[in-house]
Amino acid sequence: MTITAIVGGTGLTHLEGLELCAKPIITELGEPSSVPQVGCWHGQSVVFLSRHGQPHAIAPHRINYRANMLALQQLGVTRIVAVNAVGGIHPDMGSGAIVVPHQLVDYTWGRESTFFDGDFRPLQHIDLTHPYDETLRHQLLQAAASAEITVHDGAVYAATQGPRLETIAEIQRLERDGCDVVGMTGMPEAALARELEIPYASVCLVVNPAAGKSNELITMEDIRAVLAEGMQQVIRLIEQLHLNFEGGDY
Ligand code: HPA
Repeated sequence: MTITAIVGGTGLTHLEGLELCAKPIITELGEPSSVPQVGCWHGQSVVFLSRHGQPHAIAPHRINYRANMLALQQLGVTRIVAVNAVGGIHPDMGSGAIVVPHQLVDYTWGRESTFFDGDFRPLQHIDLTHPYDETLRHQLLQAAASAEITVHDGAVYAATQGPRLETIAEIQRLERDGCDVVGMTGMPEAALARELEIPYASVCLVVNPAAGKSNELITMEDIRAVLAEGMQQVIRLIEQLHLNFEGGDY
């Protein structure tokens, strides 16, 4: 049976229409960011988890990513769709663009970023050549095509520490590194999912031009305006992922 986890980020703290059954859960590494909501959504089993807590209050560097991923594993999820609000670096990825990244660069520091640290689990070096699951990425792209939602297939996601946004020079450095979008929560989430061998892919919504990519300063007001509209499209895309599943796409 397929059980999809949706990990909501900024702008997606609950899932409309999910027949709710809250499943309080404590893992060996503590509590997840919020109580996972387990239920049925468009005919499929779904677990929804709000990454920044409910309400949105946990800073990106303070999220217990390990507990979040372990909780999803304990709930039996078989794939994870992460939703991430990001800044756009690539000129084609302006506000409102939806992006399904294929690669990432990790600039975060000081986060608990592995299960295989020699304490919780014996040391292991896992492969992360392709950080996102290609099958799930493909399914998301198919869903976008079916729902006639324009998405960018492939991008390099830069994971920064936050919670502050970047300087112009930092964004220029990320650009030189080949990054297309920038967010604060993509890592260590992707690596931890891989360590647990749960297929993981991300749907990014560009909510602002990254620092220096427009003449304006970045305001929360502008971000909120893009989120309100853009997140509806992201939800529609994930809905379609489920509808395609019913139609036997898998
Ligand atoms: N930088 C980092 N994280 C973000 C941004 C940004 O510009 N926008 C939304 N999340």
